Amino acid sequence: MERIYELRKEAKANGEPILRDKSFELLLETIRIKKPTKILEIGVNLGLSGIAMLLNCQTASLTGIEIDEEKIALAKENYKEFGVDKRAKIFQGDASEIIPVLTGEYDFIFLDGPKGHYFEYLPNLLAVLKVGGTLFADNVLFRGFVDGTVKTPHRYNTTKNSMTKFLDAITNDKKLSTTIYKMEDGVSVTEKLL
Ligand SMILES: C[S@@+](CC[C@H](N)C(=O)[O-])C[C@H]1O[C@@H](n2cnc3c(N)ncnc32)[C@H](O)[C@@H]1O
Repeated sequence: MERIYELRKEAKANGEPILRDKSFELLLETIRIKKPTKILEIGVNLGLSGIAMLLNCQTASLTGIEIDEEKIALAKENYKEFGVDKRAKIFQGDASEIIPVLTGEYDFIFLDGPKGHYFEYLPNLLAVLKVGGTLFADNVLFRGFVDGTVKTPHRYNTTKNSMTKFLDAITNDKKLSTTIYKMEDGVSVTEKLL
């Protein structure tokens, strides 16, 4: 794992939008507790969180969705370096198009793609999430705009409103149990009960 922290530091210095430190630790803690077998990651970037999840759960395989071909090439190189390439695959394209045609079931979904689309993705993600499975979403408080800690600049209203609908949906559905972590950019951890 030391090398992962090194690569995360490098990626951060290069301005890559990688998962923040405490949220990253929460992700790994959740993975260690849940011990999933099939993980779906929306927004792979350089693959660093994906690798860390696989290293922390030897029984898991990972399916990623990523729109940027250059990032995919780098993620695949990273998967090889860490010897997890046999357990990880990536679908290239827009998550809006790929999520609706996913087949199979996942017991852990890490949602870390474009923030304005979480609400749109939600029904299809819940459809492929097993009962008892976990949906872990980053950026759910979106710079403090969602809970009103920070006033939303006009240009972010659409994304903020969409994220608010996502949060309402995962907190008000009786078939789900959700905890919101008010740290960094906000993380939600949802268990599918029924
Ligand atoms: C926050 S980063 C993912 C970080 C990664 N999960 C991690 O923790 O290291 C978001 C990624 O989503 C990708 N992305 C943005 N829009 C997308 C879309 N419509 N479909 C699929 N991927 C998208 C970006 O290229 C970027 O690599």
